[in-house]
Amino acid sequence: MTQAIQQSAFPIVAREDYSDVTYMLEIAHPMLAKAARPGQFVIVMEHEHGERIPLTIADFDRDKGTITLVIQAVGKTTKEMQANCRAGSSLYAVVGPMGIPSHIGQAKKVVCVGGGLGVAPVYPQARAYKQSGAYVIGVVGFRNRDLMFWEDKFRAVCDELIVCTDDGSAGIRGLVTEGIKQAIAKHADIDEVVAIGPPIMMKGCAEATRAHKIKTIVSLNPVMVDGTGMCGGCRVKIGDQVKFACVDGPDFDGHQVDFEDLMARLVRYKRTEQDALARWQESCRLRSAVDTETEVHTLDRPSTDG
Ligand SMILES: Cc1cc2nc3c(=O)[nH]c(=O)nc-3n(C[C@H](O)[C@H](O)[C@H](O)COP(=O)(O)OP(=O)(O)OC[C@H]3O[C@@H](n4cnc5c(N)ncnc54)[C@H](O)[C@@H]3O)c2cc1C
Ligand code: FES
Repeated sequence: MTQAIQQSAFPIVAREDYSDVTYMLEIAHPMLAKAARPGQFVIVMEHEHGERIPLTIADFDRDKGTITLVIQAVGKTTKEMQANCRAGSSLYAVVGPMGIPSHIGQAKKVVCVGGGLGVAPVYPQARAYKQSGAYVIGVVGFRNRDLMFWEDKFRAVCDELIVCTDDGSAGIRGLVTEGIKQAIAKHADIDEVVAIGPPIMMKGCAEATRAHKIKTIVSLNPVMVDGTGMCGGCRVKIGDQVKFACVDGPDFDGHQVDFEDLMARLVRYKRTEQDALARWQESCRLRSAVDTETEVHTLDRPSTDG
């Protein structure tokens, strides 16, 4: 098992925004960059009192000594990071690499599917399959052309790339399952499909391959707390077994996953999450009101110069 690495203060060396809600952070962490394998994740704290959140290592560069995270601002912590994290600032804690690395076996033809934000975490797997000599078909899906990112990175590691958009503004019109169907129709010899994205998308991908008996691996994203197998927060049902995604996954056989249970568990804390976001937004509003008032008072004060 890989030993998790922790040190203090992790410099953010680059940030890029892919849309209003999706942003990329490149973090300097040579030891982690060296240890990371496709499919693994880190647990991050933006500041000392911040929440610990799991994020997939979407890329790593051993020569530069950096790891790349791609984050979707969905709630309090990811929005707070979106507001605060800049090139030149740093993260308080980054622990990892966590989870079992994806099994890059002897498959000769593989379809790597990413839906929305899932495009980022499936990238290292597509690259690893390509490096292992497999024929790689990428299927990436977005709601529309404006939300697309990493098309170039995928083209560089895929033998074929099928872009899907819900509105048809780029590639084929339709969901990634449409892309999978096209790939299966064209290639009768697909050994494996890897699908990462929202649970409902991964469920659809598993259904699209079930009748063809194509091995389908999905990466599960249940709520994680400690990330060490102790708290039970990330419990998932796989066939007739209960597994902990943080230590037994996050990759699992998509045909065995109980997606209904996963989706039900993901919304279990919705009320608390909404309250935390509302409190943070209110504190931001108050802070900016105080700042504006201080500025006005400062401007009102008679000058003592000269
Ligand atoms: C292994 C793994 C890898 C992940 N990789 C990425 C990634 O690369 N990029 C990315 O943007 N997101 C990733 N996520 C999801 C990310 O951790 C959550 O979006 C984040 O924790 C939400 O926190 P919040 O305070 O912003 O939102 P909240 O309002 O607290 O939560 C919004 C939703 O996010 C999920 N969530 C909340 N807390 C957690 C938690 N502690 N662990 C997991 N999910 C949670 C729940 O579904 C919740 O309804 C990953 C999750 C897992 C388990
Ligand atoms: S996060 Fe606690 S057991 Fe997996």
